[in-house]
Amino acid sequence: KPSTFYRCGSLRNFAYTWGPPDPSTLKVTSAASQVAHAPPPMVLQENYKHSLLKSREQYDAMYKRSIEDPQGFWSDIGKEFHWEKKWHADHHSYNFDVRQGPIQNQWFKGGQTNITYNCLDRHVEAGRGDQICFLWEGNDLDRDRRMTYKEVLDEVCRVANWLRSVGVKKGDAVAIYAPMLCELPIAMLACARIGAMHSVVFAGFSADSLAGRIVDCKSRVVITTSGVMRGSKKVELKKIVDNALNICKKSGFEVDTCLVYENDNAIDKASCPWTEGRDRWWHDEIPKQSTEAAVEWMDSEDPLFLLYTSGSTGKPKGVMHTTGGYMVMAATTTKYVFDMQPGDVYWCTADCGWITGHTYLTYGPLLNGATSVVFEGTPTYPTPARCWQIVEKYKVKQFYTAPTLIRSLEGSGDQHVTSQDRSSLRILGTVGEPINPQAWNWYHKVVGEGRCPIVDTWWQTETAAHLISPLPGVWGQKPGSASLPFFGAHIAMVDEKGQEIEGPGEGYLCVKSSWPSTIRTIYGDHDRYETTYFAPFKGFYFSGDGCRRDADGYYWITGRVDDVINVSGHRIGTAEVEGALEEHPACAEAAVVGFEHPIKGQGIYAYVTLMQGTEFTEDIRKGLVMTVREQIGAFAAPDVIHEAPGLPKTRSGKIMRRVLRKIASKEEDQLGDISTLADPGVVETLLKLRP
Ligand code: WT7
Repeated sequence: KPSTFYRCGSLRNFAYTWGPPDPSTLKVTSAASQVAHAPPPMVLQENYKHSLLKSREQYDAMYKRSIEDPQGFWSDIGKEFHWEKKWHADHHSYNFDVRQGPIQNQWFKGGQTNITYNCLDRHVEAGRGDQICFLWEGNDLDRDRRMTYKEVLDEVCRVANWLRSVGVKKGDAVAIYAPMLCELPIAMLACARIGAMHSVVFAGFSADSLAGRIVDCKSRVVITTSGVMRGSKKVELKKIVDNALNICKKSGFEVDTCLVYENDNAIDKASCPWTEGRDRWWHDEIPKQSTEAAVEWMDSEDPLFLLYTSGSTGKPKGVMHTTGGYMVMAATTTKYVFDMQPGDVYWCTADCGWITGHTYLTYGPLLNGATSVVFEGTPTYPTPARCWQIVEKYKVKQFYTAPTLIRSLEGSGDQHVTSQDRSSLRILGTVGEPINPQAWNWYHKVVGEGRCPIVDTWWQTETAAHLISPLPGVWGQKPGSASLPFFGAHIAMVDEKGQEIEGPGEGYLCVKSSWPSTIRTIYGDHDRYETTYFAPFKGFYFSGDGCRRDADGYYWITGRVDDVINVSGHRIGTAEVEGALEEHPACAEAAVVGFEHPIKGQGIYAYVTLMQGTEFTEDIRKGLVMTVREQIGAFAAPDVIHEAPGLPKTRSGKIMRRVLRKIASKEEDQLGDISTLADPGVVETLLKLRP
């Protein structure tokens, strides 16, 4: 069996890590023809009364200033927030070039603030404490709850006091593994209030994945719930946490406090597993805390949170964001992209376990004084009309979701949409993967009745905020294009040699200079940070995506060009899935690629070489899928397992993924040159064994 080092993917991806990606991964190869045929922009939505930005000229002027004078541009915006101490006049510096020394980003240097204070106290002090902050909609139709800004502030202070009472201090990490209850963003805001870094782990991850994240950032405190109902399925979250904490213990790291919210709709106290001494009930601990909790004033560059995400190699990376720049850019993108006014009812369907739930469900809307809908359930339960019932019930103005959901709802029939009143909708957003024009048009025509601009927002966990997005009503739209860069996003497109491409063309999507919410480091591994994002193209931040730019300057994102796949907007490293498959006793080696999937965008296609003498049976296949579910989580389960007595490798032992991608997408007539394979016969065997 290959060694662990080999399995974690570091070797096989060595070539990519130190140089530009394999050009064959760029999806569009005949760029010129595609770009020449770029459609003209659609007319502006005439009934859309945008209030923030009035014209393209205004955008052009603001964009120009944001690039030429970033320090001045963001200083003016920074003034809209409360700062305990003002930043220095010369507050910004950065280095994006590994040849010039360590990569670094600094914004609002010298300033001190607190993001929770700006999200909550600021509005309460301005007399808006009675406004609704969270509209919570339960999994079941008859459960809902509303919390005002004042109520949220009180609860955040109680949790903040509790965290302090169990010894959490500024700079400590706190892991949160919870479903979409108000208590999840409340716990995040409580951490930020006392200067602890929250590390939210999506509650669909397995015990193994949770344990890995807890150990990496040494969170001694974990916040969770007894369980959750997802549709008609009961998930015993505390049980998963217990397993994770045992795994942590075995690896020599012990969590000393676990705070558990009783979600009795799913699992009540009596049936929740319990470890005396370590576990505490939220209901016993939090209500008795005071609603006054001093704010920890944070330096602008003090860490705000960690969020683990998958890369093309190795274990998930703890993406670290800091306080000042993140706050200002989260607020500003939310304001302009969603044309947000205080009091707007806004719904982002993302889970707080992903970056979208951080920036555009929690911080962005609250910084703008909006009302944010928090939905516990799944969007098609009990029927595919659920989303539009919620839109009607709360009179949602801005709705933000992923293309995968749009495609799946499109497939369930228009009647589920048209049966609900959607007249409150003004702006529709999408994020997470390229949206195909067909889905775009359905979203625009059927959901938005042709009157709502679609904001197709391109960004990443690392960028923390939108970098490319339409601004509603300001310029014409093209279905499938994220259009133009946001203020401060110095977007560049480069070729495989790292030369910048001007004008129309196709290349690798990069950023040329720092923006306020840039990823600051990978927690505990600054080398990996530099290697991943700044080594492939010297002087640029490399996003991992390919793109085209048309004659109007619009960007068309073509998808990941590294070994990361995007399944339903969830980012999964192929190396991680391979590592998980290789944990199965019958698996000798695995190679995973993405393939086009009509609903999920991409599906997971796994080639598996079994140990000598093992027969490929249905049980083995199921066992392999189960292993991935247990190691990573259900959302990473392969769609296809392809028996591979041998993998296509070069003479130096490198797997030719291009060949595997072509076979997975049934394009074996376009395999290209396979003469460099050590054993070209492997391809024929694979084709014969196609499942
Ligand atoms: C990757 C980042 C950004 C929050 C959700 C995902 C893809 C994101 C778009 C878009 C085409 C998109 C990219 C990117 N992506 N938005 N509008 N059009 N692709 O965050 O998990 O960090 O994934 O999602 O491939 O690199 P993430």
